Amino acid sequence: MRLPLATLVAILPFYLDAVLAQGSQGSGKTTRYWDCCKPSCAWPRKGNSPNPVQTCDKNDRPLNDGGNTKSGCENGGNAFMCSSQAPWAVNETMAYGWAAVNIAGSNEANWCCACYELTFTQAPLTGKKMIVQATNTGGDLGNNHFDIAMPGGGVGIFNACTNQYGAPSNGWGQRYGGIGSKSECSGFPAALKAGCNWRFDWFKGADNPNVNFKQVACPAAITAKSNCARQNDAINQTPTGPREVPTWVP
Ligand SMILES: *[C@@H]1O[C@H](CO)[C@@H](O)[C@H](O)[C@H]1NC(C)=O
Repeated sequence: MRLPLATLVAILPFYLDAVLAQGSQGSGKTTRYWDCCKPSCAWPRKGNSPNPVQTCDKNDRPLNDGGNTKSGCENGGNAFMCSSQAPWAVNETMAYGWAAVNIAGSNEANWCCACYELTFTQAPLTGKKMIVQATNTGGDLGNNHFDIAMPGGGVGIFNACTNQYGAPSNGWGQRYGGIGSKSECSGFPAALKAGCNWRFDWFKGADNPNVNFKQVACPAAITAKSNCARQNDAINQTPTGPREVPTWVP
């Protein structure tokens, strides 16, 4: 069927809306980390949110700095990841949390503070879902890679946990991958214990399970903690009523 140009022009915005609202999806890999550093999306004007991701000072108290405080990963920096950005179980099949993200063909401006529903495709988590908000990025992440933030998951290259919590110089457990058993969580700072236990309870101590992912609207329970919500995220907008259908004269 050939449509007159005027018709195409009339329906184009609706088509684009549909495409944009679809967001990114595909299959991806996961890893885990908790480096205590200020996440990248906590700097001003990274994504399209009026507020950057909430950070905390060395004592885990929220900073109200507009995102301008130097990261605790740098000498003299005093902005760290808040303990409140640790994952939690919503119920037996759904968890919420945050991740450092790399989406193939996209960039930080597009993924900062966007949310992705991960469906785990590997035992022991097969079929369970987790919604993560992208708060960070990483030069060492491959395509469609979600580095899920969980206390005790490894302090990585930058390690601010020694500075913030007095963790051992290579962090708790292995520098990459972190601790190996739930009993080690009992030695953690109080604020990080629940998130550390989550890894061995809801997450079943899974080791970098693969996922299918799709972009979804961020749950309010997540944005309330991160204080970051994208303004122009089509997928985030609640329809306000029936959309007008374009009319045309053949
Ligand atoms: C778990 O929570 C999610 C998110 O609120 C909800 O969509 C889902 O139906 C819940 N599942 C169960 C088994 O309660």
